[in-house]
Amino acid sequence: MGIHTELCDLLEIKHPVVLAGMGMGISGADLTAAVSEAGGLGLLGCSRLNPDQIRDLINKTRELTDKPFGVDILAPPLGAPGDRDELSEQIPKEYWDFVEKVKRDLNIPDFDSPEYALTEEFMRRQMEVVVAEKVPVFATGLGTPAWVLEEIRAHGIKYISLVGKVKHALRLKENRPDAIVAQGTEAGGHTGKIGSLPLIPMVVDAISPIPVVAAGGISDGRGLAAALALGAGGVWMGTAFLATREAFHDTVRLGWMTPGDRAFYQETILKAAEDDAVVSRVKTGKTCRVYRGGLLKLWAESGLEPLPYQLQTVIMSDLETALMKADKCEYVLHVGGQVAGMIKELKSAGDLVREVVDQAAGIIKDRLPACVS
Ligand SMILES: Cc1cc2nc3c(=O)[nH]c(=O)nc-3n(C[C@H](O)[C@H](O)[C@H](O)COP(=O)(O)O)c2cc1C
Repeated sequence: MGIHTELCDLLEIKHPVVLAGMGMGISGADLTAAVSEAGGLGLLGCSRLNPDQIRDLINKTRELTDKPFGVDILAPPLGAPGDRDELSEQIPKEYWDFVEKVKRDLNIPDFDSPEYALTEEFMRRQMEVVVAEKVPVFATGLGTPAWVLEEIRAHGIKYISLVGKVKHALRLKENRPDAIVAQGTEAGGHTGKIGSLPLIPMVVDAISPIPVVAAGGISDGRGLAAALALGAGGVWMGTAFLATREAFHDTVRLGWMTPGDRAFYQETILKAAEDDAVVSRVKTGKTCRVYRGGLLKLWAESGLEPLPYQLQTVIMSDLETALMKADKCEYVLHVGGQVAGMIKELKSAGDLVREVVDQAAGIIKDRLPACVS
């Protein structure tokens, strides 16, 4: 049994299941290729990766599959200021004092996270690779890089973007995306306030006939069947793919995560209850859903307000890298969604895609028709 929607035709895939692009190579080449090979659409999470690293992941994915896949990059805020050194200078002293206190109290040495920039100039160089490599799909969250859309369209690259509100979907519609992801608050990562159940049909109504992909709190065939019932053409899953054997390979290889932290992160997901993922601005300055880690408590005790997006990210990424290297993973703020409460075993990504589709098809074909009187 299978499920076929207009989204499958648009993206040239067999099943309407999309792997969310999860930055720093969390959804790297192995995971992306496994999802695409299984008939879904894999997306390489390329936020913060430099152009050479992105090209490398694209080439590796192409060695593993000849099926369509995409690249996801978070767009920096418009007029984003400077590189990491410039940003560091804008951070008030009391915030650095907090970082130093945590390091002292927990006895952890200094450690810089790998080099990255959150500037438009950096994203322009990232996008040169996406265009030159003619990756079939480009996806982004946190805003639309309007300056690149004409060029990617000219190269036949499809554009997908994420929204958490109807008004953002209407604004995005003006940029003529090929599909829009409606992401409910349940989601892991940066998230808004509206639940998937009301958000998805509202976005469907607002932007029809543009296809909608449902995200936030989906991990199995019940979620896919529900998303289709709400009018979406498919699902976009992040947290569920974190609990797969192919996740995080490139994140570890590129030095963003240690093998120990990867194991701790996946264990956290498998053990999580439905209320273990909370929304906080501590990790990035924007509302971001993370599992409760020790840094949340230490930050609350400091009395500091989180800084704007890029500044908070600079502080936290170095501190979290230092904590991981010192094997203090319980303090790190691991990103993930509410749906972890129903994820109980590590799977292969291909099996996950097939199980989601089989279960949804069974519900639609057998269970739901039996309810109609
Ligand atoms: C670990 C993690 C990292 C993420 N990184 C990104 C990212 O780099 N770019 C992006 O557009 N969305 C990112 N997201 C959000 C996902 O694209 C997706 O919308 C979300 O995971 C869907 O909800 P779910 O986690 O309940 O499946 C991330 C999510 C997670 C869990």
